[in-house]
Order: sequence, then structure tokens, then C-alpha cells
Amino acid sequence: MTKTDNPLNFLWFIPSSGDGAYLGSDDLSRPSDPGYFREIATAVDRLGYSGVLIPTGVACEESFVLAANLAAFTEKLKFLVAVRPGIASPAYYARLASTLDRVSNGRLLLNIVAGGSAQELAGDGVFLAHDERYEHADEFFQVFNQLLETGKANLDGKYIKAHNAQLGFPPVQEPRPPLYFGGSSDAAIEFSAGLVDKYLTWGETPDQVGEKIAKVRKAAAAKGREVTFGIRLHFIVRETDDEAWADADRLISKLSDETIAAAQEGFAKNSDSVGQARMLALHGGRRDKLEVAPNLWAGIGLVRSGAGTALVGSPKTVAARLREYQDLGIDTVIASGYPHLEEAYRVSELLFPEIGLGPPRNQIRSTFGEHQVFGGGGHGGNLRVVAGS
Ligand SMILES: Cc1cc2nc3c(=O)[nH]c(=O)nc-3n(C[C@H](O)[C@H](O)[C@H](O)COP(=O)(O)O)c2cc1C
Repeated sequence: MTKTDNPLNFLWFIPSSGDGAYLGSDDLSRPSDPGYFREIATAVDRLGYSGVLIPTGVACEESFVLAANLAAFTEKLKFLVAVRPGIASPAYYARLASTLDRVSNGRLLLNIVAGGSAQELAGDGVFLAHDERYEHADEFFQVFNQLLETGKANLDGKYIKAHNAQLGFPPVQEPRPPLYFGGSSDAAIEFSAGLVDKYLTWGETPDQVGEKIAKVRKAAAAKGREVTFGIRLHFIVRETDDEAWADADRLISKLSDETIAAAQEGFAKNSDSVGQARMLALHGGRRDKLEVAPNLWAGIGLVRSGAGTALVGSPKTVAARLREYQDLGIDTVIASGYPHLEEAYRVSELLFPEIGLGPPRNQIRSTFGEHQVFGGGGHGGNLRVVAGS
């Protein structure tokens, strides 16, 4: 079996700052709504996704609180929740993480977010220059990890001081929930090499992702470690390639040039993230050159920060593109699509069979074994048993 034959670990996304059917337009938009997040979480828990990323930021609902709420309504789903060094002490974050892992029965994954906006961080009381954020995070995670792994920690660091810090209850997962991380600067890669379990990249082209993976692997090997890899992508999967491209166009059909210009200006002014700069460089703010590699479409990044690319095509096409990333070493996909409830169904129903994933509901017997057709008769367009077939 080659590594490509192993099924991907496939996560979805909770749009905790709002959702919609058209980018850059209020038409068919959905405001932040806890009931809607529960609908998405319970759907993807049944549809065969292994987890969800809950984003963090001033424009998002608070991620630990939201994850604790969603854990109560789901069975197997894992929650990738951000830890932001500097926003609270490592001892407090360790308590949050341990209790969330305990109440969810071991379903917590941690996403380290050092931050990519000096302006946003200043609002939270963090005034560190870009590379310093990683030095600070390094000390933060010494204390955080020690507490989760042993219940005790001490550090007299340059940034972090913890004297006889203690954690009352251990997490369910041993030695602690896994650490995920995405950051593309040299400082980020150096930081991740010594610490993280899974390195994440936004959906750059296969060539770029391959280069990055090689860089991270080399930096980790120099520290005697191995890291696994994940990618964050949107998906527009339809029964045919043509339908998928038509829906990619539709998604930005109400997006004005003024809105694009304003978003691009905002990113340039407020972000010092190298990862964000790499995403913007893919399209350069131009809407006429959005297919940046075969079936990799950068239209979403015209106005959305962070994950800005989608794989667009039929299930077979998109599965083939995913295999290219898998061959580079990607084993995890964090996926999304607009709107997130409907697209979670589409990706599961159309793409999962092509990539060896399946919803657990298939394990429930729906018939006594006869062949059935949907809409074949009956009052509600319900299933009809076809005799003899
Ligand atoms: C998959 C993924 C998810 C991320 N999620 C968040 C997030 O929820 N909130 C946030 O502020 N930054 C998020 N980031 C940004 C990074 O954590 C990082 O702070 C930023 O890219 C700056 O790092 P750099 O300059 O080293 O690239 C994410 C990055 C990746 C790759």
C-alpha cells in the first residue's frame, strides 16, 4: 500500500463569524447563530468527518466555549481549537484545554495561533513584534505542555514566569492533546520544528506545498523530530467539472471590484503574516487569473483572509488533485465550502466515496437487502423496492 492509499483524515469548519452563499454580498447570508453551528456539527459528525476547525479572532465567537457547547451535541467529532499565547496565561489555557478534553472525552485538538495582525493583538494587550511572538510562544508552550503532561510547571523565562504552577485534573489524551500549527515565516517553521505534532498550510499550489513540507521536515529532523502535515482548503465539488466551475463563478458573482480593493487594502495594512502574504500573491487581487494551479481556484482569497483557495471540479477531478497533495506528505485536510451546511453534505456525498471515506450511516441497514430506488413511488417520493433486481 502506498501512502496515497491511506484515507485522509478529513475535518470540516465551523463558520463562527457567519456564513453565506455569495462572497461580498448580504444576499443569502447567515449571521452568527449557535443553533446553526450545532446543525453543522451534528451533520458532519454523522457524515464521516473526523473533526472541525473552530477559528479564533476578534470577529469569531470564542472557540473554547463554542467547542464545549458543540461537544455536548456530538459523539465522535474532534475539535481543533486555538490557543493564542499572550491572550491568557499558559496555566489558565492548560485548565481550559484539560477540562475541554475531559468534558468531550478526549476529543480536543489544539491549534497554536501566534497571530498575524499587530493591530488585533494590540487589542488583546499583546505588543510583540512578529518573530518575538514565536520566542514568546516557545516559553508559553514549555509551561503549557509541562502542566498538561505532569500537572506541575516552573519557568523563569524572558516572557513567561510561572512559579509552582499546578493543574488539578489531567486531560483524557496522553500525554496531552496533539498540537497543530500553521505559520509560514522562517521563525514559525523553526518554532514548529521543535514542538508541533501537525504542521498546517493554507492551500497553496502543490509545488509550494512540497517546498514547505521539505523545509519543515528538514528543520524538524535537525531537532531529532518528525512532524505530520495538513492542508486547509475550500471545496466546490459538483457532479461535473463544468457545474463546479459555474458555481465557483456564482460564489463571486455579487462581489464588486470596490469590495475586493477594500479587502486587499485591509490585508496589506493590518497583516504582518507571511502565510497571508503568500496567499495574496497567488492572485495579486486580480479576478481574471484565479486558477493558480490545475483546479486550484484563488477566488475566495480576493476577500477572505487566511484560507483563500478552493479545489474545484467533479469528484474524480478533485480526488486526483488531493492525491497529488497526499503524495507530498499531506495526511489531513481541513475543508470548508459556502454555505457550510449544504457543502458539508456535498463533499461527503460526492467526494468521500472517491477518496475511501464513508459516512457511518451506511452501517445502519436501510432495507432487508432488496434493491431500492429513491422517488420510485409511494406517497412521499419514498423508497420503492424493485422486484427481481
Ligand atoms: C490552517 C490554519 C488555521 C489558522 N487559523 C487561524 C485562526 O483561527 N486565527 C488566526 O488569527 N490565525 C490563524 N492562522 C494564522 C496563523 O496561526 C499565524 O498566526 C499567521 O499565519 C502568522 O504566521 P506567519 O507570519 O509565520 O505566517 C491559521 C493558519 C493556518 C495555516
